[in-house]
Amino acid sequence: CMQIFIDTADLNEIREAYSWGIVDGVTTNPSLIKKAVDRRPGLSMRDYIRDICRSVEGPVSLEVKGVSTEQMVQEAEMLYERFNPVNGNVVVKVPVCTAMEDGQPLFEGIRAIKTLEGRGIPTNATLVMTAEQALMAAKAGATYASPFLGRVDDYLRTKLDIAFDKSDYYDPLCARHLEEQTWEEEASGAELYDRLMRSDISDNGIYSGVDLVDSIVTIYDAYGFDTQVIAASVRNARQAREVAEMGVDIATLPYHVIEDMLTHPKTLEGMQLFTRDVVPEYEELFE
Ligand code: E4P
Repeated sequence: CMQIFIDTADLNEIREAYSWGIVDGVTTNPSLIKKAVDRRPGLSMRDYIRDICRSVEGPVSLEVKGVSTEQMVQEAEMLYERFNPVNGNVVVKVPVCTAMEDGQPLFEGIRAIKTLEGRGIPTNATLVMTAEQALMAAKAGATYASPFLGRVDDYLRTKLDIAFDKSDYYDPLCARHLEEQTWEEEASGAELYDRLMRSDISDNGIYSGVDLVDSIVTIYDAYGFDTQVIAASVRNARQAREVAEMGVDIATLPYHVIEDMLTHPKTLEGMQLFTRDVVPEYEELFE
């Protein structure tokens, strides 16, 4: 069954969501930690992380901050030695590629994942935006790979100049439809091909973040990789459903997305009606 991780570093959210009985792990990143710290100035980060680890019986991803293989391996060992003894559930998040500018080394993350695999430290390859990156993370022996599907949607929509809110669902079928329309235009094959290539509706053949997850699941299944796919950067319930349909191993979800997965206006209305219709004869049953 698809596991659900909660994508937050907020201890209250983690504890509450874990009490629902359907949460299997936690993912954090430096931005989520920053949000949590902003809410609780002065907290002891070490105690706080220990509390997070204690709060769940499932993997807790903690991210390194360095950019070279050496730094990341050292930080990963530090995180693992310091926090894994608390509850035996630490996974170290390593960016799949740490380059921030052209010309910077590209394979530091992959090398770090490979080294950590050799040392028995579980890793979560993060900032995965392409299936090619996911393939390399799996070859390096990552325990998990996290495609950031929401950010891929943001990238595509920005490229196409589409206005959006962060939580809006992005429909790849619309993008494909736009392509089909181009085919219906009167033009020579060469002109159409040229126009399509320039219109660049996809990200190198990937039409949405959900499409990216599908591609990674297909590749991992084709070769029987052990690396588990964590659909990350999920922004709405529909995306969670669509990655579940393709049998993704895990979806890491913000608190509000998990809530949205349980609500529907007709469920709410149904509750109001059922509650209103409870007759005294039925009440008696429960006395
Ligand atoms: C989890 O592993 C990721 O860090 C997280 O899902 C990123 O989400 P965002 O793109 O909404 O920041």
